[in-house]
Amino acid sequence: MERSLDQNPQLLLLVAGAKGAIGTTLAVMAAVLQSSPQQVVPYLTTADKFSHLGNCGSVVIAGWDRSSEELSAAIGRHGVLSEELWRPYESKIAETLLLEAPEPNGTLAEQVARLKGDIQQLCERSPGSRPVLINLLPAACDVSDPGRYDQIEELLNRPAAALLPDIAYVVAAVECGVPVVNFTPNTVELQAICAYSVEKGVPIAGRDGKTGQTYFKVVLASALKARGLYVDGWYSLNILGNADGLNLMDPENACGKLKNKTRLLDDILGYPVGERHGRTTHKVHIDYYPPRGDAKEAWDVIDIAGVFGMPMSLRLNLQGRDSILAAPMVLDLARWVAALQTAEIFGPVPALGFYFKKPVGDHAPLTFEEQLASLSRLEAQIETRISKE
Ligand SMILES: NC(=O)c1ccc[n+]([C@@H]2O[C@H](COP(=O)([O-])OP(=O)(O)OC[C@H]3O[C@@H](n4cnc5c(N)ncnc54)[C@H](O)[C@@H]3O)[C@@H](O)[C@H]2O)c1
Repeated sequence: MERSLDQNPQLLLLVAGAKGAIGTTLAVMAAVLQSSPQQVVPYLTTADKFSHLGNCGSVVIAGWDRSSEELSAAIGRHGVLSEELWRPYESKIAETLLLEAPEPNGTLAEQVARLKGDIQQLCERSPGSRPVLINLLPAACDVSDPGRYDQIEELLNRPAAALLPDIAYVVAAVECGVPVVNFTPNTVELQAICAYSVEKGVPIAGRDGKTGQTYFKVVLASALKARGLYVDGWYSLNILGNADGLNLMDPENACGKLKNKTRLLDDILGYPVGERHGRTTHKVHIDYYPPRGDAKEAWDVIDIAGVFGMPMSLRLNLQGRDSILAAPMVLDLARWVAALQTAEIFGPVPALGFYFKKPVGDHAPLTFEEQLASLSRLEAQIETRISKE
């Protein structure tokens, strides 16, 4: 798909998993943006960036879900937003075109062919808009060895059922020249897919949105490191009662997420937390607790030491809203990848590490200040390249 600056800058978010908690929140956000942008725009990190993309209010949602439930029923079921907030937009939301998710039959190539047809159909409905694939499928067992497939052909010949369902959506998007945001902890950024995305001129942003507890962990760990305070242990507990929380009760599905939440602390600090005890003392637990729905709660107990090894301790209690934190980040990321594509910056984008628990690509920034500095550099790079066009 050819890109030029004078195209209609409307963003078309092609959402895989559109009837989930984040997808439905996004659908309401897109509807509200049209008439009451002030309810959303102040909460975006890209509102004052990328003027070539037009204003942030121009967003259309489309996509797929495995569930046959009406979108409005799914919004009500998730309970992220009160009825009085979303009901006035119900007729607008009902215009969202969602297609049936493919069953995992046949080869990956067959799945991709079907999804490419879907992408074409969804794009034809919003002529001239800029499509971005948003992966919001459930967390799944992290089986893929990112280096296992060198060649895209090798991957395409595999049975679809042997791969994460996310892979078919991502490969179809890359083949159609559509940039990708992988908000899930699922490893879709296989070596073959990353190489193919460069060949096809597609940026890929991922993985695992850094929405709540981990965001503040990066901030605090960076602050402790900057002061030379030694982290002796970090105990993190999360309770949440949405479908993501239920899904993460299965240890296989949680393993990717827990790895992403755990690794980054040692990386920021530059030493293994718990080295003094001969075992890791960075513990992360996720517990499904239905009364809370999307209103999750997280506790952190952080044991630190100062001069003479004197022990000190810090407590953090976050009472957050999973999808309210996540949905605006998804929109921000869609704007970043659309801008990156215009600037002809392709493949995995480690400089977007600010938004992710496990930024994909080489030399991702680790500390909070490095992540902010990387974002500023990336924005400047985009603006310079676009202004030369
Ligand atoms: N909320 C957060 O703060 C946060 C942070 C980081 C990552 N994530 C990740 O984002 C993803 C989405 O989160 P959520 O809370 O919306 O999850 P959810 O479980 O509410 O939604 C997932 C949706 O995907 C659909 N689905 C399942 N298989 C499908 C398929 N093959 N094709 C199309 N649709 C399919 C389901 O029917 C469901 O509607 C999860 O992987 C989660 O771990 C969420």
